[in-house]
Amino acid sequence: MNSELQQLQPYPFQKIRELLKGVQPPALSSVSLAIGEPKHPTPAFIHQAVSEHLAGLATYPLTKGDMPLRAAIGHWLTRRFQLPAQSIDPDKHILPVNGTREALFAFAQAVIDRRANPAVVMPNPFYQIYEGAALLAGAEPIYLNCTADNGFIPDFSSVPAAVWQRCQLLYICTPGNPTGAVMSMEQLQDLIRLAEQYDFIIASDECYSELYFDEAHAPVGLLQASAQMGNTDYQRCVVFHSLSKRSNAPGMRSGFVAGDANVLDSFLQYRTYHGCAMPPPFQVASTLAWQDEEHVRANRDLYRAKFDAVLDILSPVLEVKKPDAGFYLWPITPEDDVLFTRRLFAEQHVHVVPGSYLARETATDHPGKNRIRLALVATEQECITAAQRIRHCVEQL
Ligand SMILES: Cc1ncc(COP(=O)(O)O)c(C=O)c1O
Repeated sequence: MNSELQQLQPYPFQKIRELLKGVQPPALSSVSLAIGEPKHPTPAFIHQAVSEHLAGLATYPLTKGDMPLRAAIGHWLTRRFQLPAQSIDPDKHILPVNGTREALFAFAQAVIDRRANPAVVMPNPFYQIYEGAALLAGAEPIYLNCTADNGFIPDFSSVPAAVWQRCQLLYICTPGNPTGAVMSMEQLQDLIRLAEQYDFIIASDECYSELYFDEAHAPVGLLQASAQMGNTDYQRCVVFHSLSKRSNAPGMRSGFVAGDANVLDSFLQYRTYHGCAMPPPFQVASTLAWQDEEHVRANRDLYRAKFDAVLDILSPVLEVKKPDAGFYLWPITPEDDVLFTRRLFAEQHVHVVPGSYLARETATDHPGKNRIRLALVATEQECITAAQRIRHCVEQL
Protein backbone atom coordinates (compact mmCIF):
# COMPACT_ATOMS: atom_id res chain seq x y z
CA MET A 1 0.00 0.00 0.00
CA ASN A 2 0.99 3.64 -0.43
CA SER A 3 2.74 4.37 2.88
CA GLU A 4 1.56 8.00 2.75
CA LEU A 5 -1.99 6.76 3.42
CA GLN A 6 -0.92 6.11 7.00
CA GLN A 7 -0.36 9.80 7.55
CA LEU A 8 -4.05 10.60 6.91
CA GLN A 9 -6.05 11.50 9.99
CA PRO A 10 -9.44 9.87 10.55
CA TYR A 11 -12.06 12.23 9.08
CA PRO A 12 -13.83 14.38 11.74
CA PHE A 13 -17.14 12.57 11.23
CA GLN A 14 -15.42 9.24 11.84
CA LYS A 15 -14.02 10.65 15.11
CA ILE A 16 -17.50 11.89 16.05
CA ARG A 17 -18.98 8.42 15.46
CA GLU A 18 -16.34 7.01 17.82
CA LEU A 19 -17.02 9.74 20.38
CA LEU A 20 -20.75 9.08 20.44
CA LYS A 21 -20.57 5.28 20.24
CA GLY A 22 -22.66 3.70 22.98
CA VAL A 23 -24.04 7.07 24.18
CA GLN A 24 -27.83 6.91 24.50
CA PRO A 25 -29.51 10.16 23.41
CA PRO A 26 -32.78 11.28 25.07
CA ALA A 27 -36.13 10.60 23.40
CA LEU A 28 -36.10 13.97 21.64
CA SER A 29 -36.06 14.41 17.87
CA SER A 30 -32.51 14.33 16.52
CA VAL A 31 -31.26 17.68 15.14
CA SER A 32 -27.99 17.88 13.26
CA LEU A 33 -25.91 21.01 12.93
CA ALA A 34 -22.89 18.84 12.20
CA ILE A 35 -22.50 18.18 8.49
CA GLY A 36 -22.17 21.21 6.19
CA GLU A 37 -24.70 19.73 3.80
CA PRO A 38 -27.24 22.26 2.55
CA LYS A 39 -30.80 21.17 3.28
CA HIS A 40 -32.77 23.80 1.38
CA PRO A 41 -34.54 22.26 -1.62
CA THR A 42 -32.56 21.95 -4.86
CA PRO A 43 -34.23 24.30 -7.40
CA ALA A 44 -36.87 22.56 -9.55
CA PHE A 45 -35.19 23.73 -12.76
CA ILE A 46 -32.08 21.71 -11.83
CA HIS A 47 -34.17 18.54 -11.31
CA GLN A 48 -35.91 19.17 -14.58
CA ALA A 49 -32.71 19.74 -16.56
CA VAL A 50 -31.16 16.55 -15.20
CA SER A 51 -34.23 14.45 -15.99
CA GLU A 52 -34.65 15.96 -19.47
CA HIS A 53 -31.04 15.22 -20.44
CA LEU A 54 -30.66 11.64 -19.32
CA ALA A 55 -29.98 10.67 -22.94
CA GLY A 56 -26.54 12.19 -22.35
CA LEU A 57 -25.68 9.10 -20.30
CA ALA A 58 -25.05 7.34 -23.61
CA THR A 59 -21.88 9.34 -24.35
CA TYR A 60 -18.48 9.81 -22.70
CA PRO A 61 -18.18 13.42 -21.52
CA LEU A 62 -15.08 15.54 -22.20
CA THR A 63 -12.80 16.01 -19.18
CA LYS A 64 -12.63 19.65 -20.19
CA GLY A 65 -16.44 19.96 -20.13
CA ASP A 66 -18.71 21.25 -22.90
CA MET A 67 -18.36 24.80 -24.15
CA PRO A 68 -21.85 25.99 -23.06
CA LEU A 69 -20.99 25.12 -19.44
CA ARG A 70 -17.56 26.76 -19.56
CA ALA A 71 -19.05 29.84 -21.26
CA ALA A 72 -21.79 30.13 -18.60
CA ILE A 73 -19.17 29.86 -15.87
CA GLY A 74 -17.03 32.49 -17.61
CA HIS A 75 -19.96 34.92 -17.75
CA TRP A 76 -20.81 34.27 -14.12
CA LEU A 77 -17.22 34.81 -12.95
CA THR A 78 -16.84 38.00 -14.99
CA ARG A 79 -20.14 39.43 -13.74
CA ARG A 80 -19.80 38.35 -10.11
CA PHE A 81 -16.18 39.48 -9.64
CA GLN A 82 -16.19 42.43 -12.05
CA LEU A 83 -13.39 40.95 -14.14
CA PRO A 84 -12.24 42.82 -17.25
CA ALA A 85 -14.30 41.84 -20.31
CA GLN A 86 -12.57 39.09 -22.32
CA SER A 87 -10.00 38.41 -19.58
CA ILE A 88 -11.55 34.98 -19.01
CA ASP A 89 -11.27 32.68 -21.99
CA PRO A 90 -13.53 29.68 -21.29
CA ASP A 91 -11.19 27.58 -23.37
CA LYS A 92 -8.15 28.28 -21.20
CA HIS A 93 -9.17 29.61 -17.82
CA ILE A 94 -11.98 27.29 -16.71
CA LEU A 95 -12.35 23.59 -15.90
CA PRO A 96 -15.59 22.06 -14.60
CA VAL A 97 -15.04 19.65 -11.71
CA ASN A 98 -17.14 17.08 -9.85
CA GLY A 99 -17.47 19.22 -6.73
CA THR A 100 -14.63 21.23 -5.26
CA ARG A 101 -13.69 18.47 -2.83
CA GLU A 102 -12.21 16.23 -5.49
CA ALA A 103 -10.70 19.23 -7.26
CA LEU A 104 -9.01 20.63 -4.14
CA PHE A 105 -7.51 17.20 -3.54
CA ALA A 106 -6.51 16.47 -7.13
CA PHE A 107 -5.01 19.93 -7.58
CA ALA A 108 -2.20 19.28 -5.12
CA GLN A 109 -1.42 15.95 -6.82
CA ALA A 110 -1.04 17.80 -10.12
CA VAL A 111 0.99 20.84 -9.03
CA ILE A 112 3.32 19.59 -6.29
CA ASP A 113 6.87 18.60 -7.24
CA ARG A 114 7.62 16.08 -4.50
CA ARG A 115 11.36 16.04 -5.24
CA ALA A 116 11.80 19.62 -4.03
CA ASN A 117 11.04 19.17 -0.28
CA PRO A 118 7.67 20.86 -0.78
CA ALA A 119 5.52 22.64 1.79
CA VAL A 120 1.80 23.33 1.46
CA VAL A 121 0.60 26.23 3.61
CA MET A 122 -3.01 26.23 4.84
CA PRO A 123 -5.29 27.86 7.43
CA ASN A 124 -5.89 26.18 10.78
CA PRO A 125 -8.76 25.19 11.39
CA PHE A 126 -9.28 24.04 7.83
CA TYR A 127 -11.32 21.97 5.42
CA GLN A 128 -9.75 18.55 5.95
CA ILE A 129 -9.07 17.88 2.28
CA TYR A 130 -6.21 20.43 2.16
CA GLU A 131 -4.17 18.42 4.64
CA GLY A 132 -4.85 15.03 3.04
CA ALA A 133 -4.07 16.46 -0.39
CA ALA A 134 -0.74 17.84 0.84
CA LEU A 135 0.26 14.61 2.57
CA LEU A 136 -0.58 12.36 -0.37
CA ALA A 137 1.27 14.71 -2.71
CA GLY A 138 4.39 14.18 -0.56
CA ALA A 139 4.39 17.70 0.92
CA GLU A 140 4.62 18.95 4.48
CA PRO A 141 1.44 20.73 5.61
CA ILE A 142 2.15 24.03 7.39
CA TYR A 143 -0.73 25.23 9.56
CA LEU A 144 -1.42 28.94 10.10
CA ASN A 145 -3.64 29.58 13.07
CA CYS A 146 -6.87 31.52 12.58
CA THR A 147 -7.94 32.93 15.93
CA ALA A 148 -10.18 35.69 17.24
CA ASP A 149 -7.00 37.75 17.76
CA ASN A 150 -6.20 37.81 14.06
CA GLY A 151 -9.83 38.10 12.93
CA PHE A 152 -9.63 34.43 11.85
CA ILE A 153 -7.35 35.37 8.93
CA PRO A 154 -3.88 33.75 9.07
CA ASP A 155 -0.99 36.05 9.88
CA PHE A 156 1.00 35.44 6.72
CA SER A 157 3.72 37.85 7.85
CA SER A 158 4.60 35.44 10.68
CA VAL A 159 5.71 32.74 8.22
CA PRO A 160 9.52 32.50 7.93
CA ALA A 161 11.07 33.11 4.51
CA ALA A 162 12.50 29.57 4.67
CA VAL A 163 8.94 28.19 4.64
CA TRP A 164 7.81 30.43 1.78
CA GLN A 165 10.86 29.24 -0.17
CA ARG A 166 9.62 25.64 0.14
CA CYS A 167 5.96 26.56 -0.35
CA GLN A 168 4.60 25.33 -3.66
CA LEU A 169 0.93 25.71 -2.87
CA LEU A 170 -1.07 27.90 -0.48
CA TYR A 171 -4.68 27.00 0.28
CA ILE A 172 -6.90 29.79 1.47
CA CYS A 173 -10.59 29.51 2.27
CA THR A 174 -12.61 32.70 1.94
CA PRO A 175 -15.29 32.80 3.30
CA GLY A 176 -13.70 30.42 5.76
CA ASN A 177 -14.96 27.08 6.98
CA PRO A 178 -15.57 27.03 9.94
CA THR A 179 -14.89 30.67 10.90
CA GLY A 180 -16.82 32.48 8.16
CA ALA A 181 -14.06 35.11 7.90
CA VAL A 182 -13.71 36.83 4.53
CA MET A 183 -10.34 38.06 3.29
CA SER A 184 -10.15 41.66 2.07
CA MET A 185 -8.99 42.85 -1.34
CA GLU A 186 -5.80 44.15 0.29
CA GLN A 187 -5.04 40.86 2.04
CA LEU A 188 -5.56 38.93 -1.19
CA GLN A 189 -3.33 41.31 -3.14
CA ASP A 190 -0.57 41.04 -0.50
CA LEU A 191 -0.74 37.28 -0.96
CA ILE A 192 -0.49 37.55 -4.74
CA ARG A 193 2.67 39.66 -4.32
CA LEU A 194 4.04 37.03 -1.93
CA ALA A 195 3.24 34.28 -4.45
CA GLU A 196 5.15 36.21 -7.12
CA GLN A 197 8.09 36.74 -4.77
CA TYR A 198 8.39 33.08 -3.78
CA ASP A 199 6.83 31.50 -6.85
CA PHE A 200 3.97 29.46 -5.41
CA ILE A 201 0.35 28.89 -6.47
CA ILE A 202 -2.61 30.19 -4.47
CA ALA A 203 -5.63 27.86 -4.40
CA SER A 204 -8.54 29.95 -3.14
CA ASP A 205 -11.46 27.84 -1.95
CA GLU A 206 -14.43 30.17 -2.45
CA CYS A 207 -17.24 27.63 -2.25
CA TYR A 208 -19.11 29.74 0.36
CA SER A 209 -18.73 33.01 -1.57
CA GLU A 210 -22.44 33.23 -2.45
CA LEU A 211 -23.72 32.93 1.13
CA TYR A 212 -23.46 36.42 2.58
CA PHE A 213 -25.69 38.78 4.51
CA ASP A 214 -25.51 42.20 2.87
CA GLU A 215 -26.68 42.14 -0.76
CA ALA A 216 -24.55 45.24 -1.41
CA HIS A 217 -21.33 43.64 -0.13
CA ALA A 218 -20.54 40.27 -1.65
CA PRO A 219 -17.20 38.75 -0.61
CA VAL A 220 -14.33 39.63 -2.93
CA GLY A 221 -12.51 36.81 -4.68
CA LEU A 222 -8.91 36.03 -5.60
CA LEU A 223 -9.39 36.58 -9.37
CA GLN A 224 -11.02 39.94 -8.64
CA ALA A 225 -8.07 40.98 -6.46
CA SER A 226 -5.69 39.73 -9.15
CA ALA A 227 -7.41 41.61 -11.99
CA GLN A 228 -7.59 44.84 -9.98
CA MET A 229 -3.82 44.86 -9.49
CA GLY A 230 -3.26 44.33 -13.20
CA ASN A 231 -2.58 40.58 -13.09
CA THR A 232 -5.27 39.99 -15.73
CA ASP A 233 -3.80 36.70 -16.86
CA TYR A 234 -4.31 35.47 -13.28
CA GLN A 235 -0.78 34.10 -12.89
CA ARG A 236 -0.42 31.84 -9.83
CA CYS A 237 -4.10 32.38 -8.92
CA VAL A 238 -6.67 29.57 -9.03
CA VAL A 239 -10.17 29.69 -7.53
CA PHE A 240 -12.56 26.86 -6.63
CA HIS A 241 -16.34 27.40 -6.81
CA SER A 242 -19.22 25.03 -6.24
CA LEU A 243 -22.95 24.66 -6.83
CA SER A 244 -23.26 22.60 -3.63
CA LYS A 245 -23.84 25.51 -1.26
CA ARG A 246 -24.78 28.21 -3.79
CA SER A 247 -27.53 26.18 -5.45
CA ASN A 248 -28.31 23.54 -2.81
CA ALA A 249 -27.15 20.75 -5.09
CA PRO A 250 -24.44 18.88 -3.14
CA GLY A 251 -25.46 15.58 -4.74
CA MET A 252 -24.86 16.89 -8.24
CA ARG A 253 -21.12 17.17 -7.47
CA SER A 254 -20.66 20.24 -9.63
CA GLY A 255 -18.14 23.02 -9.38
CA PHE A 256 -15.32 24.58 -11.32
CA VAL A 257 -11.72 25.65 -11.10
CA ALA A 258 -10.64 28.89 -12.79
CA GLY A 259 -7.54 31.03 -13.16
CA ASP A 260 -3.95 30.72 -14.41
CA ALA A 261 -4.13 29.16 -17.89
CA ASN A 262 -0.74 27.41 -17.64
CA VAL A 263 -1.61 25.80 -14.33
CA LEU A 264 -5.02 24.72 -15.63
CA ASP A 265 -3.44 23.23 -18.72
CA SER A 266 -1.33 20.89 -16.55
CA PHE A 267 -4.32 20.24 -14.28
CA LEU A 268 -6.38 19.22 -17.32
CA GLN A 269 -3.63 16.81 -18.36
CA TYR A 270 -3.68 15.32 -14.85
CA ARG A 271 -7.48 15.07 -14.90
CA THR A 272 -7.50 13.34 -18.27
CA TYR A 273 -5.65 10.46 -16.67
CA HIS A 274 -7.43 10.72 -13.34
CA GLY A 275 -10.73 10.28 -15.18
CA CYS A 276 -13.16 12.70 -13.64
CA ALA A 277 -15.33 14.21 -16.37
CA MET A 278 -18.72 15.61 -15.36
CA PRO A 279 -21.74 13.52 -16.51
CA PRO A 280 -23.59 15.26 -19.39
CA PRO A 281 -26.98 15.75 -17.64
CA PHE A 282 -25.16 17.53 -14.79
CA GLN A 283 -23.30 19.72 -17.25
CA VAL A 284 -26.60 20.96 -18.68
CA ALA A 285 -28.16 21.52 -15.24
CA SER A 286 -25.00 23.30 -14.05
CA THR A 287 -25.03 25.61 -17.08
CA LEU A 288 -28.54 26.74 -16.12
CA ALA A 289 -27.63 27.08 -12.45
CA TRP A 290 -24.68 29.42 -13.14
CA GLN A 291 -27.00 31.51 -15.33
CA ASP A 292 -29.57 32.11 -12.60
CA GLU A 293 -29.19 34.36 -9.55
CA GLU A 294 -32.78 34.45 -8.34
CA HIS A 295 -32.58 31.12 -6.53
CA VAL A 296 -29.27 32.18 -4.98
CA ARG A 297 -30.79 35.37 -3.56
CA ALA A 298 -33.72 33.37 -2.17
CA ASN A 299 -31.21 30.99 -0.58
CA ARG A 300 -29.43 33.89 1.15
CA ASP A 301 -32.78 35.13 2.51
CA LEU A 302 -33.31 31.77 4.20
CA TYR A 303 -29.86 31.81 5.83
CA ARG A 304 -30.25 35.42 6.96
CA ALA A 305 -33.44 34.56 8.84
CA LYS A 306 -31.82 31.53 10.48
CA PHE A 307 -28.73 33.43 11.65
CA ASP A 308 -30.91 36.16 13.18
CA ALA A 309 -33.12 33.67 15.02
CA VAL A 310 -30.29 31.44 16.28
CA LEU A 311 -28.05 34.31 17.37
CA ASP A 312 -30.94 35.82 19.35
CA ILE A 313 -31.19 32.57 21.29
CA LEU A 314 -27.49 31.78 21.72
CA SER A 315 -25.80 35.14 22.27
CA PRO A 316 -27.07 35.62 25.83
CA VAL A 317 -25.38 32.37 26.95
CA LEU A 318 -22.45 31.75 24.56
CA GLU A 319 -19.64 33.84 23.15
CA VAL A 320 -20.73 33.72 19.52
CA LYS A 321 -20.42 36.18 16.65
CA LYS A 322 -22.21 36.52 13.36
CA PRO A 323 -19.63 35.53 10.71
CA ASP A 324 -18.76 37.65 7.66
CA ALA A 325 -20.35 34.99 5.42
CA GLY A 326 -21.02 31.26 5.03
CA PHE A 327 -23.45 29.12 7.03
CA TYR A 328 -21.47 28.27 10.17
CA LEU A 329 -21.32 29.60 13.70
CA TRP A 330 -18.08 29.08 15.62
CA PRO A 331 -18.90 29.75 19.29
CA ILE A 332 -16.63 29.36 22.30
CA THR A 333 -17.75 26.43 24.46
CA PRO A 334 -18.36 26.64 28.21
CA GLU A 335 -16.31 23.44 28.72
CA ASP A 336 -13.92 21.32 26.64
CA ASP A 337 -15.33 21.18 23.10
CA VAL A 338 -15.24 17.38 22.84
CA LEU A 339 -17.01 16.95 26.18
CA PHE A 340 -19.55 19.61 25.22
CA THR A 341 -20.24 17.87 21.88
CA ARG A 342 -20.84 14.61 23.70
CA ARG A 343 -23.04 16.33 26.26
CA LEU A 344 -25.18 18.01 23.58
CA PHE A 345 -25.82 14.62 22.05
CA ALA A 346 -26.35 12.80 25.36
CA GLU A 347 -28.63 15.43 26.90
CA GLN A 348 -30.25 17.19 23.95
CA HIS A 349 -29.91 14.88 20.92
CA VAL A 350 -28.14 17.69 19.02
CA HIS A 351 -25.19 16.91 16.73
CA VAL A 352 -22.34 19.43 16.40
CA VAL A 353 -18.64 19.23 15.45
CA PRO A 354 -15.95 19.75 18.10
CA GLY A 355 -13.60 22.52 16.97
CA SER A 356 -10.54 20.53 17.91
CA TYR A 357 -11.45 17.91 15.27
CA LEU A 358 -11.17 20.60 12.58
CA ALA A 359 -7.76 22.01 13.55
CA ARG A 360 -4.30 20.82 14.53
CA GLU A 361 -2.32 21.81 17.58
CA THR A 362 0.67 23.98 16.67
CA ALA A 363 3.63 25.25 18.70
CA THR A 364 1.63 28.31 19.78
CA ASP A 365 -1.99 27.25 20.04
CA HIS A 366 -4.80 24.82 19.26
CA PRO A 367 -7.15 27.15 17.39
CA GLY A 368 -10.06 24.72 17.35
CA LYS A 369 -9.96 23.94 21.05
CA ASN A 370 -13.00 25.00 23.06
CA ARG A 371 -15.07 25.94 20.06
CA ILE A 372 -17.76 24.03 18.19
CA ARG A 373 -18.95 24.33 14.64
CA LEU A 374 -22.68 24.76 14.08
CA ALA A 375 -23.90 24.44 10.48
CA LEU A 376 -27.21 26.28 10.10
CA VAL A 377 -28.30 24.02 7.27
CA ALA A 378 -31.52 22.48 8.62
CA THR A 379 -34.89 24.25 8.43
CA GLU A 380 -35.31 27.45 10.40
CA GLN A 381 -37.53 25.64 12.90
CA GLU A 382 -34.99 22.87 13.43
CA CYS A 383 -32.17 25.40 13.83
CA ILE A 384 -34.26 27.25 16.43
CA THR A 385 -35.01 24.00 18.26
CA ALA A 386 -31.31 23.10 18.29
CA ALA A 387 -30.35 26.57 19.52
CA GLN A 388 -32.92 26.41 22.33
CA ARG A 389 -31.62 23.01 23.41
CA ILE A 390 -27.98 24.21 23.32
CA ARG A 391 -28.97 27.21 25.42
CA HIS A 392 -30.80 25.03 27.89
CA CYS A 393 -27.76 22.77 28.16
CA VAL A 394 -25.43 25.73 28.83
CA GLU A 395 -27.81 27.10 31.46
CA GLN A 396 -27.74 23.76 33.30
CA LEU A 397 -23.95 23.68 33.55
C1 LIG B 1 -14.43 24.77 2.68
C2 LIG B 1 -15.02 23.74 1.79
N1 LIG B 1 -14.47 23.55 0.59
C3 LIG B 1 -14.97 22.63 -0.27
C4 LIG B 1 -16.05 21.85 0.08
C5 LIG B 1 -16.51 20.80 -0.88
O1 LIG B 1 -17.70 21.10 -1.47
P1 LIG B 1 -18.18 20.39 -2.80
O2 LIG B 1 -17.26 19.24 -3.09
O3 LIG B 1 -19.55 19.94 -2.53
O4 LIG B 1 -18.09 21.43 -3.89
C6 LIG B 1 -16.66 22.01 1.32
C7 LIG B 1 -17.81 21.16 1.71
O5 LIG B 1 -18.30 21.15 2.77
C8 LIG B 1 -16.13 22.99 2.20
O6 LIG B 1 -16.65 23.20 3.41
